[in-house]
Amino acid sequence: EWPAPMLRRSFSLDKDIKKARVYISGLGYYELSINGEKVGDQVLAPSFTSYDKTVLYQTFDVTNALQKGENAVGVVLGNGWYNCSTQEVWLFKQAPWRSHPKLLFQMHIEYKDGDRQVIVSDTNWRGTTGPIVYDSLRNGETYDARLEIDGWTQPGFDDQSWENARITRPPGGVLRCQQMTPIRVTQTIKPISLKEVRKGVWVYDLGQSISGWAKIRVSGQAGTEIVLKYSENLAEDGDIDPSNIDIFVKSGEFQTDRYILKGEGIEEWEPRFTYHGFRYVQMTGFDGVPTLDNLEGRVVHTDFEVRGEFECSNELFNTIQKCSRWSTLTNYHGMPTDCPHREKNGWTGDAALSAEQTILNFHPGTTYTKWLKDFIDAQRPNGQLPGIIPTGGWGYNWGSGPAWDSAIILITWNVYLYYGDTSILKDMYDSMKKYVDYIAYMANDHIVEFGLGDWCPPRAEGYTHNSCPTAITDTAYYYIDTYILSKVASILNKEEDAQRYAKLAQDIRQAFRDKFVDIDAGEVTGNSQTALACVLYQGLVDREEASGILVTLEDEIKRYDYHLDCGILGTKYIMHALTEYERSDLAYAMANQTTYPSWGHWIAQGATTLWEDWDGVGSRNHHMYGDISAWFYKGLAGINPDPEKPGFKHIIIKPNPVGDLKWVNAWHQSMYGKILSNWSLDNDQFNLQVSIPPNTTATVHLPTKDKDGIKVNGQDINQVHGIRIIDSTDRRVVVSIGSGEYSFTIKM
Ligand code: BGC
Repeated sequence: EWPAPMLRRSFSLDKDIKKARVYISGLGYYELSINGEKVGDQVLAPSFTSYDKTVLYQTFDVTNALQKGENAVGVVLGNGWYNCSTQEVWLFKQAPWRSHPKLLFQMHIEYKDGDRQVIVSDTNWRGTTGPIVYDSLRNGETYDARLEIDGWTQPGFDDQSWENARITRPPGGVLRCQQMTPIRVTQTIKPISLKEVRKGVWVYDLGQSISGWAKIRVSGQAGTEIVLKYSENLAEDGDIDPSNIDIFVKSGEFQTDRYILKGEGIEEWEPRFTYHGFRYVQMTGFDGVPTLDNLEGRVVHTDFEVRGEFECSNELFNTIQKCSRWSTLTNYHGMPTDCPHREKNGWTGDAALSAEQTILNFHPGTTYTKWLKDFIDAQRPNGQLPGIIPTGGWGYNWGSGPAWDSAIILITWNVYLYYGDTSILKDMYDSMKKYVDYIAYMANDHIVEFGLGDWCPPRAEGYTHNSCPTAITDTAYYYIDTYILSKVASILNKEEDAQRYAKLAQDIRQAFRDKFVDIDAGEVTGNSQTALACVLYQGLVDREEASGILVTLEDEIKRYDYHLDCGILGTKYIMHALTEYERSDLAYAMANQTTYPSWGHWIAQGATTLWEDWDGVGSRNHHMYGDISAWFYKGLAGINPDPEKPGFKHIIIKPNPVGDLKWVNAWHQSMYGKILSNWSLDNDQFNLQVSIPPNTTATVHLPTKDKDGIKVNGQDINQVHGIRIIDSTDRRVVVSIGSGEYSFTIKM
């Protein structure tokens, strides 16, 4: 537990500079300044990797930061994930890479006359420590402003009393360029209330659960210590209650920042090498009576581009959508995490379940590409994966298993499906194959059962408490993983593998059916919602075989009065399976509940993010139930990708006017451009407005069986050039269109 090291190097440039670049990696985190200015607007960089396998560096164009004459570079280093000094249950303190912070730096300068100069991290640098006296990712940061060193990143600063930097051993990993959307401070939030809950104990409420930290603006006597503690729940007396999230950190304080004043008027401060998950901030030590102006919330996460929006006439759904987006954003910190406070871990299963909605709402492409490389780093030679990635060694034998590990296949597949990226298939192929071979090794007659099953189902009395055997969800993942692998093999022209895994997939499917499914009776072992939905969602029965299972599933849903009896796995399956089988009415009914267990029940209790479990006992900011947002886009607005023509080269538009919905507006910015699907119901008229981007085509499944009453842009559909009716069923007329804007009207 050392103060954060500060390293500086001054040098003089005697010619005109044409261009200059910095290549830098500082572990755990670095903050780089040149001539008194911070370089870049990213925070908490570089991103977390298994540092003994991979180390990320970043590149900056610093041409404009330099000047003729004397220049100075200053770097502060934080511990981050590299040097976790406190004890928690995932043992990052014991991580094989753990060491004191270190810096690798190169500045390449090119002069106008063609000369070049390189400045590197060597013993010419000078080092000391300063105001950041403590920093720990999960514990917090302590800053003693009295120890600030004015002007240390400026030229002309006298560093005589500092020591020379020492050469240290590197972390061991291969250096790679960090090519991903950075983490930034994306918003600043003003608190909505402030209360003194006991003498000198002040609690701020931001009105929104966020990830990040508080920034304070204070004044007082030198040496006054202000302590900030963060929580997402309040105790009865109005004080913060972190008891639902502080359970796994076993030493040191939890989510606590300390600021010690220097006593020179107004002082502003925010931490830089830690982050927290919270809505409430407790402040103690303030000299006098604080106001709402003394503190604000800084929202910090991977700064995704927004790639989609969904809105509809159902206000509850709009609120769920908002909470889901908050949970998603606040859980991306260079990798998907489970929660921003209790764990901050890259739990694989959570991310796989919510990947589709993340892609539909935002642009996580580069983050996935980077994180999938972390899977390669974490994979054991026999193919086994840990439940959290990156890991310092923990999690291979608890918390993983097919439902979680399948992220290696499903996220890869989603990147391909939604972006049309085939290079990710190439990059991941060997590891995906190793993983499938690993499950094959664990299987008995094609049935697998290890690791976690349908996690966090309703725990209250009367619910089945996850009666879905893990063998069902596990074997279904084994099937779908193998099936996808065979598809990927054939995309990559690996014919032999394609055939071998296609055959294996069929064998697994048969074994699954023999063991768990009775098609005539419409039953799946245990008949839980999750088991029944799993069989439909994962394609373990043919379409023609599904009717009996659907009847049983409907009975199960009615038995719980149109509520879910599912954990995170079943909840994803059930919403999409019902929609796929034209029972979006049932999905709608469950999504529209406001009583336990439902998303609406969380909202009724004031949720501003999605929770970990229906009972509300665990964390209150998990995104693993966030796939409902994907259902909004896919199931209600009807924007769907086509696996045969990935990347939205061909788009499937399948809107569902369901329940009491009056209208839905949604768009998604695909790699080809904006896809839009807006619909509304006007008495008995259904209006659908669709935009299909250039160089793509679409199939539109109109919710009518009446081929005749359809108009497009005011004209009878049969008269419109370029539009074809390609199919019609007893529920849908299916139409093929090219790019452009269309407005369909249908008499219902
Ligand atoms: C995490 C998860 C994770 C689960 C699985 C929990 O502690 O918060 O969301 O998926 O463990 O074991």
